[in-house]
This record gives sequence, structure tokens and C-alpha cells, in this order.
Amino acid sequence: MRRIIVAIDGPAASGKSTTAKFLAEKLGYIYIDTGAMYRACALQAKLEGFAIDDLSSIIPMLERIDIKISYSESGNIIWLNGRDVSQQIRTPEISAAASKISAIPSVRYKMVELQRKLGKDGGVVLEGRDIGTFVFPEAEAKFFMVADLEVRARRRYQELKAKGIESRYEDVLQELKARDEADASRSLAPLKPASDAILVDTSNLSIEEQVNKLYEITLRKIAELGESNSPNNSVPDGIEVYLAHSSGYCFGVKRAIQMAREAKVCDKPVYTLGEIIHNPGIVQELEEKGIHVANNVSDLKDSTVIIRSHGITREEYETLQKNNNEIIDATCPYVKRTHTILQKMTAEGYPVVIFGDKHHPEVIGLRSFGNDKTIVVAEDEPPPKINENSLVLIAQTTQKIEKLNELVCKLLPNVFELRVFNTICLTTTLRQKATIEMAKKSDVVIVIGGYKSSNTSALAKLSSQYCPTFHIENEMQLAGVDLSKYKRIGLTAGASTPEEMIIKVYNVILQKSGHFSTVKSIEEIPLFKEESC
Ligand code: DC
Repeated sequence: MRRIIVAIDGPAASGKSTTAKFLAEKLGYIYIDTGAMYRACALQAKLEGFAIDDLSSIIPMLERIDIKISYSESGNIIWLNGRDVSQQIRTPEISAAASKISAIPSVRYKMVELQRKLGKDGGVVLEGRDIGTFVFPEAEAKFFMVADLEVRARRRYQELKAKGIESRYEDVLQELKARDEADASRSLAPLKPASDAILVDTSNLSIEEQVNKLYEITLRKIAELGESNSPNNSVPDGIEVYLAHSSGYCFGVKRAIQMAREAKVCDKPVYTLGEIIHNPGIVQELEEKGIHVANNVSDLKDSTVIIRSHGITREEYETLQKNNNEIIDATCPYVKRTHTILQKMTAEGYPVVIFGDKHHPEVIGLRSFGNDKTIVVAEDEPPPKINENSLVLIAQTTQKIEKLNELVCKLLPNVFELRVFNTICLTTTLRQKATIEMAKKSDVVIVIGGYKSSNTSALAKLSSQYCPTFHIENEMQLAGVDLSKYKRIGLTAGASTPEEMIIKVYNVILQKSGHFSTVKSIEEIPLFKEESC
């Protein structure tokens, strides 16, 4: 029988874990508790003594985390850096911290990468908050489980009691309520049902009833999908595959890679501060040349340090200089320009609003050039309360121009003077426009680029508004994508995706359609043309 991906999402204590575990058992599938992964991250932060909002500690900490899951009769065993932490991660303190840490995009990307790896071959039941919407939007069976808040609080209270963890019912209820709100309101992959998820209210169902309901629906889905053992990976003949006009490396990234490749490795150690781009191939290439990745500025002394295109904070520049480092500054000139504008406007006394993701390294760097009046506002966030007559608005270079316009409209009624600098890089705007135009006319779009890359994820999000979209990091991930039903296949790629990867993906799609010719250069891939559709 075909082995599919079953996604079960829903708020805390809605019955997901127990149902998912038993359902997996009945189907002979693997059960994956994704919440446990966020809990393990929160536990690591606690063990290292970091506050959850201390991003400068949490983000590097991710490099030191190794999470593994093994399977036992009683459910998942969670291993954190080689230690079984299955019990330790179940306290109310860790529940609250897990919810907070899960809102940090870098944490999510790392966990989602792991979840996709574990689930990509099917035969899995994954439970969490965003499995059907974000981790596996292509999951064949999707459920969203809900239950009344009081019912959930009673369940969780009894669960804690059975484990010997002291708690008060009222506190459990408040904790669940706060967690529901936080999980549903975060900007990246919030808790919400996928549009094609089946809603299951478990308030008045026994566990057996819940499991049977999901089991029957899943069996029906499998039967509908047919008897094949793996997704149909062949692409029919007569397909068109094309590349968006503007895709792949942007000028800033190309320049940074070139500067790193040209860096002299002699007597001094050479480091890039963070990965030069989110691309394992390039990082490996530099590593082999003797250019290593450092994550902490304070570790660097008497070295050569390459600053990547995102830029760094003012304090980090000062620390590097104080510690006698030679700096190769590959900050993208468009990003540098935002630093200069922010500094100048701040010196002139303007409060400045930065439109961007406050956890993104570019924005963390940029913000440090302002002062305590500098505010960061993310996409779709309500505008800040402003008690000033004048205001300056600038943007992270990879934001969407439409969203910047929306923020202008929201801010303008509240101030007398609004100075807007369109600091969005032209390449970003062009790439997004090209993706939208292509998605409108395609049956499916494949977006190629790192899951950690925010501009790649933005392309995937935009494209998914117009047609089915798969975000993949490399050509191997096409194995899990069924392209058989699509005739017009569009490709696009983020600013940090190398041309070689686009070529590999294109060649694999050709091979799947029975064409054994391959292309060797990006120029050989046809570009999207409106009239070709
Ligand atoms: O399912 P749980 O209670 O163990 O999850 C703990 C927290 O982890 C939850 O409050 C939100 C977060 N989480 C998430 O953001 N995405 C998931 N897929 C699973 C959990």
C-alpha cells in the first residue's frame, strides 16, 4: 500500500499526541512529535542559562544542538546532544519556553529542516502546529484537532498529576490560553488549519473514537490515491520547464562570495562571521580552502574576518577592531546604504521605523546604527504607536514593496511628516515580480534555495498564492515531489542559490520526463515567456 504523510495539527492538549501515536501504530507508520523538538531547544537554552529572547545567544546555540528521535512502544524518545531528555522537556516551564523559542525563525528553519528530512519518504504521522501548512503542505492526509479550552486544561492537569508534576488547574488553563495565543500569532508558520485539513473536535470524543475516525479517513485517502508504493515521480512528455527571468544569486551575494574566494589564507587564520551564504556547497568549498565559519565575534582575535552580505552590528565592528582583526567587509552595498540612511536620519533627530524581520541578521545589524527610538515592524504587524510629528521609514532590502506601501498607508494618518526611503533592493523586487508573473501562468512552481533563506521563503510564499509551490533546497528533494500532473513547470531561485543547483534541478526534471539530454549552463534553460503558455 502507498505510504503517505499524515499531518496532525492543533493547539496544545487537543489530543494530537495520543491520537498520532496510536494512528501511527495502526498504520505501521513512524510517529514524529515535532513539539518535542522545540521543547528540546528550550531545554538547551535553559541548560546554557540563556533567556529565550536573547537572540545573540540562542542563534549560535542552534549550531551546538543535536536532536535525535528514536521510537519506543510508549512514543518518541527525544535525544538532546546524546542524552535522553524525554521526561525533562515535559514541565510547564519548558512548555512556555518552547512556545516562545518556536517563534524565532532561525529555530523554526532548523527544526523544519529536520522534520522534512524525517518525513520525506512517507509512512509517517507528524503532529505539531504547522505540519499541514508549512512543513509538508503536500501531505496527503491533513487533520486539525481542536477541543474546548476547559476540556484541554483538565486533560493537561490530569496528565501532569499522573507524572507527579505539581500544578493548579487555573494555572494550567492560563498557560494553555497564553500558549494558544502565542502559537497562533507568531509571524512565521503560525498555528492555523491548512485550507484542506479535516477539522476534528475531540471535546466529546474518547481516544479510541478519535483514533478510529482518523484511521478510517486516512485509509480512504490512501485508497483514493491508488496502490502505488511511492509518489509518481515521472513527468509526462510535452511538459514545459522554464526559469523565471530574474532568479538566483543577487549582486551582493555574488560579490561576497567572490571576496571570500579571493581572501588570502597565509599565516593568519581566516573566518567568515556566520556562513557566507546559506549554501552548504560554498561553505564547504571555503572550509577546504582554510576559511572557517565563526559564530561569535568575541572568539576572534588577530585574524582575518570576512563580513557577509547581511552586514553586522556596530558593536561587532568595534569588537573586531579592538581585538586586532583585519576586516574584509563584504556587506552588500545596498545594505550599507541602509546603515548610512539610518545613522544620518537618527543624527538629525528622526525616529526611524525599519520595516523588516527583527530576527534577521540584516535587521539586527541595521538596527544597531539607530538609537532607542528605532523601531522594527514586521510584515502585517500593526503599526507602532507614534507620539512624534515626524518619522522616517526604511526597509530591510529583501522586503516586498507592496507590504512597504501598506505600512506607509497605516503610518501616514498618525504623523505630519513621513519620510520614506525605498531601500528595497531592485533585484529583490524584480525577482518577486518575475515569480508572481510566472506562477500566474504555471501549473506548479519549484522554488530552489535554503530553507533558512528569507528571500527564498518569501518567493515560495508569493508563488503559493497563485499555484501549487514546492520549496526545495536541492535536486534530491525532487524525489518526494509528484510532478506527473503538471505540464507547465516554473523554476525560480533565491538570492543565495548557486546556478549549479538550478541546473541540477532542471536536469533532474528533464530526466524524470524521459529526456536524457542535460544542460551545462544556466543560459541553456529556457526563460519563462508569457506567450509560451
Ligand atoms: O506540541 P507541544 O505542546 O509539545 O509543543 C510545544 C510548543 O512547540 C508549542 O507551544 C509551539 C511549538 N510548536 C511549534 O511551533 N510547531 C510545531 N510543529 C510543534 C510545536
